Amino acid sequence: MRLVLLLLALCAWAAAVPALIARQQELSPVTDEQAARYISSAVVSGAVSCGSRAVTAFDCGPACDKLSDAGAEILYSDGDGERDPWIYLMHVHSENALVVAHSPTNFSSFLSVLIDANFFLTAIDAVLLDDMGVNSSAGISVHSGFLRSVNKTYEELKKRLIAAMDRLGDKISVVRFEGHSMGAASAAIEAVALSSIVKDRGYDLRLTTFGSPRVGNEQFAGLLEKTIPLDKRARVTNQNDKVPHLPGWPYKHYAGEVYIPKQDENDIPTPAAHCIGREDDRCTDKFNIFQRSKEAHVGPYFDQTLSRSVCTNADAYPPE
Ligand SMILES: *[C@@H]1O[C@H](CO)[C@@H](O)[C@H](O)[C@H]1NC(C)=O
Ligand SMILES: *[C@@H]1O[C@H](CO)[C@@H](O)[C@H](O)[C@H]1NC(C)=O
Ligand SMILES: *[C@@H]1O[C@H](CO)[C@@H](O)[C@H](O)[C@H]1NC(C)=O
Repeated sequence: MRLVLLLLALCAWAAAVPALIARQQELSPVTDEQAARYISSAVVSGAVSCGSRAVTAFDCGPACDKLSDAGAEILYSDGDGERDPWIYLMHVHSENALVVAHSPTNFSSFLSVLIDANFFLTAIDAVLLDDMGVNSSAGISVHSGFLRSVNKTYEELKKRLIAAMDRLGDKISVVRFEGHSMGAASAAIEAVALSSIVKDRGYDLRLTTFGSPRVGNEQFAGLLEKTIPLDKRARVTNQNDKVPHLPGWPYKHYAGEVYIPKQDENDIPTPAAHCIGREDDRCTDKFNIFQRSKEAHVGPYFDQTLSRSVCTNADAYPPE
């Protein structure tokens, strides 16, 4: 009996050690410079959720005005914003950036995609694996609904992206993949698949997402972490948003959470903090299932609300 107790105590201690080690690393506050970068991405994500027609005309209210002030030029767009996020390739002149941006989809149908048993982890097929520089033995799987959506536009996006990089040359220094909600998942998959063609041309690659669900399995998270260095990726979460908690096991987040706290969370640096590891129980992970909300999904992410309700002249679809 004593021995059993001793063993149990030892096990408990061994389990606590990794947590203690993680604890020693303090959350680091987001600097003004980093915040400015995240805000640029949030402006893009806010604008593109207003819908294709409005964005193309830069006529969607404050986010489009900011995009237009930054000298954005839309090079290509696709998707329908209903089942598939709208996708945009744009050259943001003042930021020397080529941006691949994704809108969310209809929030109600998106939630059902996240929890519907018809969607499951599915192995990434040959074309994407090849671009990712791995083969099927690497066991890379992502959510079938996200993969289906990326599949539809991938080849065309790749072609357009290569053409744009070749044309713009040193007028750009970075290629950014961005998106909110379901668009965050598309951005992550594409960023991993397209990273080598971007890096081979000497450009920086950045991935910045807002309110991302979990995208794939542990192997996908590991590949993303290996492909895109920690300082080039930000998975921004807001307060108790429920979406980052979905889908559940065996889906895994990639590390790189940037957590935006509630006003009264005085243990977290404001305006936001870089969290440690894949899920940090001081960040959005601290909210239990009863505390999570869908209201926090739209932000505010820094000063940007990513919601069609702040668009003017939004296209008919997608509402919340
Ligand atoms: C959004 O999706 C829900 C659930 O699928 C559907 O009932 C609703 O009509 C959709 N809204 C629009 C505007 O398409
Ligand atoms: C897959 O890649 C691994 C590691 O690069 C390699 O050892 C293996 O032979 C490859 N398998 C196939 C079927 O190509
Ligand atoms: C898209 O899916 C089809 C059917 O599974 C497959 O043949 C094709 O290679 C896929 N394309 C990409 C880019 O993954």
